[in-house]
Amino acid sequence: MIKVIFKTADGQEIETQGESGSLMELAVENNVPGIDGDCGGVCSCATCHVHVAQEDFARVGEPNEIEKDMLELAEDVSETSRLCCQVALSEDINGISVTVVRE
Ligand code: FES
Repeated sequence: MIKVIFKTADGQEIETQGESGSLMELAVENNVPGIDGDCGGVCSCATCHVHVAQEDFARVGEPNEIEKDMLELAEDVSETSRLCCQVALSEDINGISVTVVRE
Protein backbone atom coordinates (compact mmCIF):
# COMPACT_ATOMS: atom_id res chain seq x y z
CA MET A 1 0.00 0.00 0.00
CA ILE A 2 1.15 3.50 -0.81
CA LYS A 3 0.37 6.16 1.75
CA VAL A 4 -0.30 9.81 0.88
CA ILE A 5 -1.34 12.63 3.19
CA PHE A 6 -3.60 15.33 1.79
CA LYS A 7 -3.67 18.62 3.71
CA THR A 8 -6.80 20.55 2.91
CA ALA A 9 -7.39 24.28 2.69
CA ASP A 10 -9.38 24.16 5.95
CA GLY A 11 -6.57 22.50 7.87
CA GLN A 12 -7.54 18.82 7.83
CA GLU A 13 -4.91 16.16 7.29
CA ILE A 14 -6.42 13.22 5.46
CA GLU A 15 -4.32 10.08 5.38
CA THR A 16 -5.05 7.86 2.38
CA GLN A 17 -3.76 4.58 1.05
CA GLY A 18 -3.91 3.07 -2.40
CA GLU A 19 -2.19 0.66 -4.71
CA SER A 20 -2.69 1.96 -8.22
CA GLY A 21 -4.17 4.76 -10.26
CA SER A 22 -3.42 8.44 -9.82
CA LEU A 23 -3.20 10.71 -6.83
CA MET A 24 -6.36 12.45 -8.06
CA GLU A 25 -8.29 9.17 -8.06
CA LEU A 26 -7.04 8.40 -4.56
CA ALA A 27 -8.21 11.82 -3.36
CA VAL A 28 -11.65 11.49 -4.95
CA GLU A 29 -12.12 7.97 -3.52
CA ASN A 30 -11.35 9.42 -0.08
CA ASN A 31 -13.57 12.50 -0.52
CA VAL A 32 -10.70 14.93 -0.10
CA PRO A 33 -12.26 18.42 -0.29
CA GLY A 34 -10.90 20.61 -3.08
CA ILE A 35 -9.94 17.77 -5.41
CA ASP A 36 -12.77 17.46 -7.91
CA GLY A 37 -11.10 15.83 -10.90
CA ASP A 38 -13.65 17.39 -13.22
CA CYS A 39 -11.94 16.32 -16.45
CA GLY A 40 -11.59 12.72 -15.32
CA GLY A 41 -7.81 12.92 -15.19
CA VAL A 42 -6.88 14.04 -18.69
CA CYS A 43 -5.02 17.16 -17.62
CA SER A 44 -7.53 19.71 -18.84
CA CYS A 45 -9.26 21.21 -15.81
CA ALA A 46 -6.79 21.91 -12.97
CA THR A 47 -9.37 20.94 -10.31
CA CYS A 48 -6.79 18.52 -8.95
CA HIS A 49 -4.11 21.12 -8.19
CA VAL A 50 -1.84 20.41 -5.22
CA HIS A 51 1.37 21.79 -3.79
CA VAL A 52 3.74 18.94 -3.09
CA ALA A 53 5.72 19.30 0.15
CA GLN A 54 9.10 20.81 -0.71
CA GLU A 55 11.01 17.85 0.72
CA ASP A 56 8.96 15.40 -1.36
CA PHE A 57 9.03 17.21 -4.68
CA ALA A 58 12.12 15.46 -6.04
CA ARG A 59 10.39 12.12 -5.58
CA VAL A 60 7.28 13.29 -7.40
CA GLY A 61 9.13 15.05 -10.20
CA GLU A 62 8.47 17.93 -12.56
CA PRO A 63 5.30 18.29 -14.64
CA ASN A 64 5.54 17.60 -18.36
CA GLU A 65 4.93 20.35 -20.93
CA ILE A 66 1.19 19.69 -21.27
CA GLU A 67 0.74 19.88 -17.51
CA LYS A 68 2.86 23.03 -17.32
CA ASP A 69 0.60 24.70 -19.89
CA MET A 70 -2.46 23.75 -17.86
CA LEU A 71 -0.86 24.99 -14.64
CA GLU A 72 -0.44 28.42 -16.24
CA LEU A 73 -4.21 28.72 -16.05
CA ALA A 74 -4.43 27.61 -12.41
CA GLU A 75 -4.46 29.89 -9.37
CA ASP A 76 -1.85 29.99 -6.59
CA VAL A 77 0.77 28.12 -8.56
CA SER A 78 3.99 27.41 -6.66
CA GLU A 79 7.28 25.85 -7.64
CA THR A 80 6.03 22.52 -6.31
CA SER A 81 2.63 22.65 -8.00
CA ARG A 82 1.36 19.51 -9.68
CA LEU A 83 -1.93 18.45 -11.17
CA CYS A 84 -2.31 15.29 -9.19
CA CYS A 85 -4.16 13.35 -11.89
CA GLN A 86 -0.78 13.30 -13.59
CA VAL A 87 0.98 11.70 -10.62
CA ALA A 88 0.76 7.91 -10.56
CA LEU A 89 0.78 6.03 -7.29
CA SER A 90 4.05 4.17 -6.95
CA GLU A 91 6.48 3.16 -4.25
CA ASP A 92 8.55 6.21 -5.24
CA ILE A 93 5.98 8.52 -3.66
CA ASN A 94 5.06 6.43 -0.63
CA GLY A 95 4.55 8.69 2.40
CA ILE A 96 4.47 12.07 0.64
CA SER A 97 2.36 15.03 1.75
CA VAL A 98 0.51 17.32 -0.60
CA THR A 99 -1.49 20.44 0.15
CA VAL A 100 -4.77 20.93 -1.68
CA VAL A 101 -4.89 24.39 -3.22
CA ARG A 102 -8.63 24.80 -3.80
CA GLU A 103 -11.26 24.84 -1.09
S1 FES B 1 -8.37 16.04 -13.04
FE1 FES B 1 -8.46 17.56 -14.57
S2 FES B 1 -6.43 18.29 -14.68
FE2 FES B 1 -6.35 16.73 -13.18
